[in-house]
Amino acid sequence: MRFLRFAAIALAVLLFGFQMAASSARAVSIDEGYRTVKLNKEGKTVVITNEQYEDGKKLFNDTCSQCHMAGRTKTNPNITLKLEDLEGAFPPRDSIAGIVDFMKDPKTYDGELSIDVLHLSTSRLDLWSEMRKYKSDDLYNVAGYILVQPALQGEMWGGGKTVN
Ligand code: HEC
Repeated sequence: MRFLRFAAIALAVLLFGFQMAASSARAVSIDEGYRTVKLNKEGKTVVITNEQYEDGKKLFNDTCSQCHMAGRTKTNPNITLKLEDLEGAFPPRDSIAGIVDFMKDPKTYDGELSIDVLHLSTSRLDLWSEMRKYKSDDLYNVAGYILVQPALQGEMWGGGKTVN
């Protein structure tokens, strides 16, 4: 009787252990090197956590991927989300601060004109209701997700054929 109880407990512990192992294997875990991105144009870097990455990915797929599928830009294939294009913008957008600023106050590539009536932004929630759910953490996470992609996907991100 005592042995049976012991066996039942041992079995429960074993099954619980398996379940833990299986669920942690399911969660995506990306190497820290890939998750290290530029925080601002002064060149400070920051590590995006796996949770921030997952959150940013979900937001990107919900709100951005319809135009920025795989880092390309529908209707303007010259201004993609690959690093060289982000770097070449004025002000540079190849950092979390640069992309967050673009989502708050999008400008033409040369920085001359506001395009907040053409590109979604949090400054015109009357036009872009999909941005109402974006808190500052969300802007940070989606920017982080975009900046991890070039390291993960290389030339595939923002490269290749654009279908307009
Ligand atoms: C309806 C289509 C559309 C959607 C949706 C969209 N974008 Fe864009 N995005 C564009 C276009 C077009 C441009 C190029 C703007 C220009 O002509 O200067 C652009 C440019 C950008 C740039 C500047 C790229 C560079 O190289 O300088 C960033 C950053 C950006 N988008 C981020 C986002 C993010 C983040 C989202 C989602 C929250 C998003 N976009 C959703 C169409 C879209």
